[in-house]
This record gives sequence, C-alpha cells and structure tokens, in this order.
Amino acid sequence: MKVYITRMIPEAGLHVLRQAGVEVIQYTGKTNIEKEELVQNCQQADALLSVGPNKLDAAFLQACSHLKGIALMSAGYDQVDIQVATDNNIPVSNTPDVLSNATADVAFLLMLAVSRNAFYMHKTIGKKEWSFFEPTANLGIELYGKTLGILGLGRIGMSLAQKCTAAYNMQLIYHNRNRNTNAERTFGARYVSFEQLLQQSDVLSVHANLTPATKNMFNKAAFDQMKPTAIFINTARGALHNEQDLTEALKNQTIWGAGLDVTNPEPMLPDNPLLQMRNVCVLPHIGSATQETRSKMAVVAANNIVAALQGKPMPQVLNN
Ligand code: DGY
Repeated sequence: MKVYITRMIPEAGLHVLRQAGVEVIQYTGKTNIEKEELVQNCQQADALLSVGPNKLDAAFLQACSHLKGIALMSAGYDQVDIQVATDNNIPVSNTPDVLSNATADVAFLLMLAVSRNAFYMHKTIGKKEWSFFEPTANLGIELYGKTLGILGLGRIGMSLAQKCTAAYNMQLIYHNRNRNTNAERTFGARYVSFEQLLQQSDVLSVHANLTPATKNMFNKAAFDQMKPTAIFINTARGALHNEQDLTEALKNQTIWGAGLDVTNPEPMLPDNPLLQMRNVCVLPHIGSATQETRSKMAVVAANNIVAALQGKPMPQVLNN
C-alpha cells in the first residue's frame, strides 16, 4: 500500500507509516504542488496525506475516487469538498486537539504584541529611532481585566480562553453556532449575538472554520461596530476577514490594531501596506508550528492513513 504526501513531514509520522508497512511517496519541492502533478501522483497511491492549502475540489476527488482515505495534516478542512468526498466514498480526516495549545499561544502572542506595538517597536531600533526615554511615547494598551470576545469557541478558542481568564483575568464573551455550556460553566463565558461581540470586545479573536457563512464576516460593516480601542486577532483563516476593509479600519483608527497569523492570499506579498503599520503584527501561518505539535499532527495524520489502508474507520474522520 502506498501513501502520497504533499510535503516533507516530521519523522514521527513517517515512522508510524513505515511500521505499518506503508510505502511513502513524498513531494520534496519548496512550492505548492501543481494540481496536475498532485492528481498524477495520487494515481500511483492508495491514500493521500495532504499538508497545506492544496484544493481537494470536486474535479480532484472525482479524478482520484480510488483513494481509500485522505488524511489532512491540519485542523481546518476548508480545502476539501467534504460532500464530494463522501459521495465518492473517500473518508477524510483532520488533526484536531493536538494543535489547540500551540495555536492559542500564537493568538495570545499576537494579542500582547499588538497591544504594545511590539513588532513595530522592534523595527524602530534598527531604524535608529530609539533616542531617549519618552514617558508619553510608545504607549500601548493593557489587556488585564479586559473583555475577550471569541468567534468560534471550539478547542482552540477554549485553550485561549483558559490562558486569558487564568493569567489575565479577562472576561469572556463568545458567539458560536451552538452554546458552549462548558465554557459558560468553566470560564463564566457569556453567549452574545455577533453584533454584541463586535461592540463589546476589547480583543476579538477569530477561531471559526472557513465556510460560505463565515467568509468575509469581518468586513467594513463589522469593523465599524468595534471599539476604537479594539484589537482584532485572526489565527483561523485569512478569508474570514476582508483585507481591504481591515486595512482601512486600521488606517482610519476605527480599531486599535490587528494581529494576523493568516492572510488572504498566503503568502502575503512583501509590499502589503499592513506590514508597515505600527498597530499590526503579521505572522506567516505558524499557529501549529512547534516541534512538539507538528510531530503530534504528523502522527495523528499517519494513524488515520494506516487505519484507512487497513479498511478501518479513520480515528479522526470528518465524514462517514
Ligand atoms: C490548521 O491546522 O488548520 C492550520 O491552520 C494549518 O493549516
């Protein structure tokens, strides 16, 4: 049995595959694999372990309907047409849970960095702008005791909520498809409408899946309702916010600042005006990028592949 892997992955995952006698074919290029090459390579394989943004759309899934399973090495699954995969009897799995803490760390890092203009301040030193200590300059905003609003209070949101309530005594409000009674019990979280979330959050952190309903949810109409001191954080998917509207909101000081680990498109182009703004911190989609987490993700994905190739249900299957 052969698996095709669209990136180099940590050794721990390869080890699981070898132990199970699965032959690995791996793409070793440094750019996204082209669609045609992906289809061709999947024709030689029995399963696909997909890392990164390759679109596994209807055309791909129909051309590769022989696959016994597709394991995504990500929590997000917006890159796959799950319905078409189901129609073609292809089980698809993801890697939830194992990346929650690392991704929430990055959201927390961005919150603090934006509240104190940290990335911009770092750059000023290199530009020889640090001349003397000015008591009224370089002032940030403190997060302690403020209101954290979360859109999409799932596993990553819960991990962020834990950090912010325990360490920063932040009050938690959230908006979700469903009520999260566990968060209400554990963190005293308050369920609010989307409008209330916009209006009441001091920090608004997005952890929702990208779907047609959430795409562009953070647009001019949304930013206009936020506090002028609010910080917008997105570690989920770049298409959840409208970049043009966000740039305008930051330029016009409609909101205080933004921290982004995801952009649209990715990679963000180096001449993007957001990169020059003092109230913005951008990271290159590194939410889950720790040695520990990436190894765990590779192992989870590999275990899903092994199960699919052995004709067993994938432990983290998204469809049935
Ligand atoms: C995820 O797990 O969804 C990360 O954003 C990597 O794609």
